[in-house]
Amino acid sequence: MQSQIIEQGRSSAAPVPFGHFEGVHQHFRRPGQAPLVAIENITFDVKAGHLVTLLGPSGCGKTTFLKIVAGLIPASGGTIQINGRAVVEPQPDFGVVFQQANLMPWRTIQANVLFPMEILGRTDAAAELRARELLALVGLEGFEKSYPAQLSGGMQQRVALCRALIHKPKLLLMDEPFGALDELTRMEMQDLLLDIRAKTGATVMFVTHSISESVYISDIVCVFSKRPAVIADFIAVDLPYPRSAEIRYLPEFTELEHRAGRALGITR
Ligand SMILES: Nc1ncnc2c1ncn2[C@@H]1O[C@H](COP(=O)(O)OP(=O)(O)OP(=O)(O)O)[C@@H](O)[C@H]1O
Ligand SMILES: [Mg+2]
Repeated sequence: MQSQIIEQGRSSAAPVPFGHFEGVHQHFRRPGQAPLVAIENITFDVKAGHLVTLLGPSGCGKTTFLKIVAGLIPASGGTIQINGRAVVEPQPDFGVVFQQANLMPWRTIQANVLFPMEILGRTDAAAELRARELLALVGLEGFEKSYPAQLSGGMQQRVALCRALIHKPKLLLMDEPFGALDELTRMEMQDLLLDIRAKTGATVMFVTHSISESVYISDIVCVFSKRPAVIADFIAVDLPYPRSAEIRYLPEFTELEHRAGRALGITR
């Protein structure tokens, strides 16, 4: 099963896939106890420009895997390559969005969006223009000079998305970015993400617990098993773009949800 899944994940057209993960495993040392094995053996490839969701139960190792890909923690073993390079530390051409927006409350919205450019030493008029353009793209025109506390949770998460995109990342890593939002806002954000992906061509790896969210936004749903995580299924979502809410009612959509549910062991 595993080898068949790996083959499905490989691109035969592109010899060097954008993302290549092979035999990735992770254990955490625990004082006085056996090490906790979070990830057992994760192998798959990601095509450039694809949106891949990592779907799996709570505690299975999704965040751990995403942090490894982001270069935030070193893997215990295995190969992690992006664009043909081994990832061993955070990369300037990656953008990361977490479940909480984590904006700096003392900075304006525009200054929050520009923060990565300050770190990179690239604050100039072009960066300011791009910050304003991104804020307009996510519907926040006119809020540039506001402060985070003056925005709703969904608006703050849109700012976090702009901050992750300001330096034109090739890879956008998102860890349950819409998990704290109400359902309607979440659906809007999913459409916004698809729109941004179409406009920027960024490759996206997106962690979620939600089966319907994963099917709706993905090119590929990579289903993680319970901990220690292995890949339970690797599902190609052949639904057309642009996607809109109506596709949620198509039989093909439901069938893909069923397949993901079966891989998670919650439907038969
Ligand atoms: N720094 C750490 N030290 C020890 N154990 C850790 C550490 N980070 C994660 N773990 C353990 O690794 C396992 C996977 O955690 P992880 O946060 O990756 O899960 P997850 O799939 O993201 O869960 P959730 O969906 O609830 O966010 C958990 O059992 C967790 O306790
Ligand atoms: Mg997590």
